[in-house]
Amino acid sequence: VYERKVNYTHFLKYIMVGDSAVGKSNLTLQFVDRRFSPNSEFTIGVEFGSRIIDIDNKQLKIQVWDTAGQEKFRSITRAYYRGAVGAMIVYDITRRETFDSLTSWLSDCRKYSTGDITITLIGNKSDLESARQVSTAEAQSFAEEHGLLFFEASAKTGTNVNEILINLTIYNQ
Ligand code: GTP
Ligand code: MG
Repeated sequence: VYERKVNYTHFLKYIMVGDSAVGKSNLTLQFVDRRFSPNSEFTIGVEFGSRIIDIDNKQLKIQVWDTAGQEKFRSITRAYYRGAVGAMIVYDITRRETFDSLTSWLSDCRKYSTGDITITLIGNKSDLESARQVSTAEAQSFAEEHGLLFFEASAKTGTNVNEILINLTIYNQ
């Protein structure tokens, strides 16, 4: 009975970071609510959402901290890496500069997280293929070089959103 209870109270904190407008809040909305919001506003500070997911008959509570990408909130964001077992660093495949910022997000991740943290790189807005500025191959090799899991996804269509959560969670069991 005790063991069973332990399984059911698994709790995992994830943090979502990346430049402003890459789609962090919409990815979070998909994770938590399977919704997309075309007119979402800039996040102020930090918000969070949670969802219970089932993996191997275990119920895991996932809490996703959705941070603000605007530079003026950077120091606030840094306080939220603490205790996170997973980080999602998001860029927008249609805006090169958001990919160029990755090393800086990665360095914050490593510096401010506590203990082991599994990092997933997410190339969001994969539905906008015709406006793509970062190739899949380039992002893949960046991920390999830095030991990150990597997915392209779309918060708009929901493509790969569940896969990301499940993969990150399998790594943290
Ligand atoms: P900050 O809170 O400022 O850090 O921004 P954010 O990363 O949370 O971005 P947000 O989720 O608010 O999305 C920014 C804009 O991109 C919004 O207009 C979204 O509707 C749009 N958007 C987000 N994800 C996608 C996507 O996968 N595809 C498309 N086409 N648009 C997206
Ligand atoms: Mg946001």
